[in-house]
Amino acid sequence: MIKREIGSDFYLSRSETGSQQEAGPLALELSLTDRRYLSSGRQAIRYCLRDLGAVPKRALLPEFTCTSVIQAFLQEDYQLAFYPLDRDLGMTSSQLIEEAQKQAARVLLFHPYFGFDSLEMDQAFPEDLVVIHDASQSFASNLSYPGVDYRMVSIRKWGPFSDGGFCGKWTGPFRDQGQLPDDREVNRLVQEAYALKAAYIEAGQGDKASYLDLYRQALTLLSGREGLYAMDPQARDLYLHYDWEAMGQKRRANYQALLAYPRWSDLGQLIFPQLDREDLVPLYFPFYVGAGRRDQLQAFLIGRDIYAPVIWPCPDYLKMRGVSPQVARLYQEILVLPIDQRYGRQDMERIHQALDDYLEGEVKDLV
Ligand SMILES: Cc1ncc(COP(=O)(O)O)c(C=O)c1O
Repeated sequence: MIKREIGSDFYLSRSETGSQQEAGPLALELSLTDRRYLSSGRQAIRYCLRDLGAVPKRALLPEFTCTSVIQAFLQEDYQLAFYPLDRDLGMTSSQLIEEAQKQAARVLLFHPYFGFDSLEMDQAFPEDLVVIHDASQSFASNLSYPGVDYRMVSIRKWGPFSDGGFCGKWTGPFRDQGQLPDDREVNRLVQEAYALKAAYIEAGQGDKASYLDLYRQALTLLSGREGLYAMDPQARDLYLHYDWEAMGQKRRANYQALLAYPRWSDLGQLIFPQLDREDLVPLYFPFYVGAGRRDQLQAFLIGRDIYAPVIWPCPDYLKMRGVSPQVARLYQEILVLPIDQRYGRQDMERIHQALDDYLEGEVKDLV
């Protein structure tokens, strides 16, 4: 069947129904002392925060982050402070520790970006700082940092799982938070959207608007959830049977194929210009688009059925507070290309061609 689109929401294609054999969670996940599977990443963060008991509710988060990370802390009544990042999204643990002390934060959440190791550990985290490693963007990369208390992931970002968040603890068992129900409503909507999208993409049946509407409804419900829910059993089963090895290889190969595009300097600037470590699995291919051209390039790519999202738009909460100039530039200029396991060499060549055509068009406009 024709793959009409590159990017956009996952759906359960025929090639992705998992293997008979249980692959189990990744080794890193098994090395934690306790684990929980929730409906979403934000709920996994909240599960960790609820585990803490009577810690003063003041947290330090990255300035470059997702609305739902901020939302999770606000739902648990935290006051927030933010730390800046450099233009390559890098930071050192000593900077984070210093900032946490300055801001009197007792909880720190950090996330390595897009699958790369963007935290340099030049100082051990102190015992009295609760540290959450949000591995939502680096779930399949072999990254672990000493002195971290919790690891969490938005599993939903990595494949056709109708919901899913993970949290684990390095320092003993979680406190009992009772049995959580699964989120039938959200999962029903997403599973229906998957089925409609599969019919549309693989058999040319139905229309796009109907599954997009279901995805939207599901996301709206998920964002409004006040309670915590367990991961859907069907989604969890697929997760445990998923071929992570093949996923990692495909993403790495696609990333390398885009790195080989010869005209990046005409378009903007790469953020991670090398993928040299074998144990890193990228989430997307991020780059800065030269000033003022992002929306235009994004629209051009949509015209070619290539969906390059902005990860992330600036959360309203941070728009009001303001961010450092380098993070403001990130929010204004970042665009990411899809490189996930659904795609291969031909798709990446299609992206090369589309980028060439975009640049040609710009040259024509100038003459
Ligand atoms: C880094 C990061 N952490 C946590 C989350 C929250 O995950 P979810 O959308 O599954 O609640 C997101 C969502 O985009 C994220 O990007």
